[in-house]
Amino acid sequence: MINVTKTYLPNVEKYKQYIDEIYANGWVTNNGPLVQKLEKRLAEYLGVKNLILVSNGTVALEIAYRTLGLKGFVITTPFSFVATTSSLVTNGLLPIFSDINPNTFNLASENIEQSITKNTSAILPVHVFGNSCEVEEIGAIAAKHNLKVIYDAAHAFDIRYKDKSVLEYGDISTLSFHATKLFHSIEGGALIINDDSLVEKARYLINFGIKNTEEIPELGTNAKMNEFEAAMGLCVLDDIEEIKSRRKAVCEMYVKELSTLVQFQEMNPYASQNYSYVPIVLKTEEQLKKVQKALNEQNIFPRRYFYPSLDTLSYIEPKQLCLNSRDIASRILCLPIYPELTFEEQTLIIDIIKGALS
Ligand SMILES: Cc1ncc(COP(=O)(O)O)c(C=O)c1O
Repeated sequence: MINVTKTYLPNVEKYKQYIDEIYANGWVTNNGPLVQKLEKRLAEYLGVKNLILVSNGTVALEIAYRTLGLKGFVITTPFSFVATTSSLVTNGLLPIFSDINPNTFNLASENIEQSITKNTSAILPVHVFGNSCEVEEIGAIAAKHNLKVIYDAAHAFDIRYKDKSVLEYGDISTLSFHATKLFHSIEGGALIINDDSLVEKARYLINFGIKNTEEIPELGTNAKMNEFEAAMGLCVLDDIEEIKSRRKAVCEMYVKELSTLVQFQEMNPYASQNYSYVPIVLKTEEQLKKVQKALNEQNIFPRRYFYPSLDTLSYIEPKQLCLNSRDIASRILCLPIYPELTFEEQTLIIDIIKGALS
C-alpha cells in the first residue's frame, strides 16, 4: 500500500540512546533537557531568533492568538487544513475568508484589503504546501491598517524568502511537527515570535499561564512538548538534508513526467522550496475521481488536500463564498511523496495517472 505520506523513522539505536538518557535522569516533560536542546538546534538550523516548542501545530496557533491578544475578526484563507480555521473559532474569533490565487493556492494579497473592517484584528495567511505567501505585500497591508499577522507555517519548515527565513515575517509564525510532516517529532509544533517582548508571555501561556511559583497572570493552557517527542525531533533533524534531497528528487520526477497533463502549484520566485507536498490540479472533479479510482485500485492512496474548502464549514456563520478556493479544492490531489518512495513505485504512480488521463 502506498499512502500520500509515510512517517520518517530515524535510526532506532540513536533514538534508544536518547530514551536511555531520559530513563537515567527521570525527566520526561516540563521543559526538559532534550526540549531545550531541540529548541536551540532548530532555532539555529532555521535561522530564527525566538523559537518555542509546543505539543502540536494547532495549539501553536491558539497560543499565537492569545499572545497577541486578538479579538473580533481575523482574515484568513479558506484553502487550508481545517485547524487553521477551527483554532480561530475555539478562541472566540470569527474567520473572515478572503479568496486565494488559483495558481499559488495562497491568500491573494490583492483581495485582503476589501475584507478589512473596524472589527478586524489580524490576518492569518498560510504558506500552503510550503509555498511562501507574498509576505512583503501582506506586511505592508497590515502596517497600513495596524493589524497583526500570524503565518500558519505548518508546511513551511526551512523556507527562506529572499535572504532570511520566511518564519521571521509577520508577528508570529507557527509550525507543525506532526508525524506526516517534512520534519517531525511524532506530535509537536513551534512558535516563532519576532517581538522579543512577547516571548515570556508565550512561554507561560503554554504552561497553564503560570509565570512562576507565585503568579498566574494569564489564562493559559497545557501545550508542552515532552522529552520523548523532542528525542524524535533531534534524531530526525540529524537526517534532514537527506530527507530533503530525496523529496526533491521525487518532486522533480513528478513535474518532469506530468507537467503537460496537469497543473502544478506556481511557486513564489523569491522563496526556496521544501518539497513537502506534490499537489496536482486536474481539469475537472470527474477527471480527479477517475485518477483517484485508478490509483486506489492499485492500492495507492493520494489525498484530496485540501478538501472541502473551509468556507463550506457548517459551523461558520455568516456563510461566505470563495469561488477560487472551492474550485481548486474540488480538483486538487496530493500525490505520494516521502523519502522511501522507490523509483519503481513512483514510475507505477506516474504510469497509472498517464493511463487514466489518456
Ligand atoms: C496548514 C496546517 N495548519 C495547522 C495544522 C495543525 O497541525 P497539528 O496537526 O500539528 O496540530 C496542520 C496539520 O496538518 C496544517 O496542515
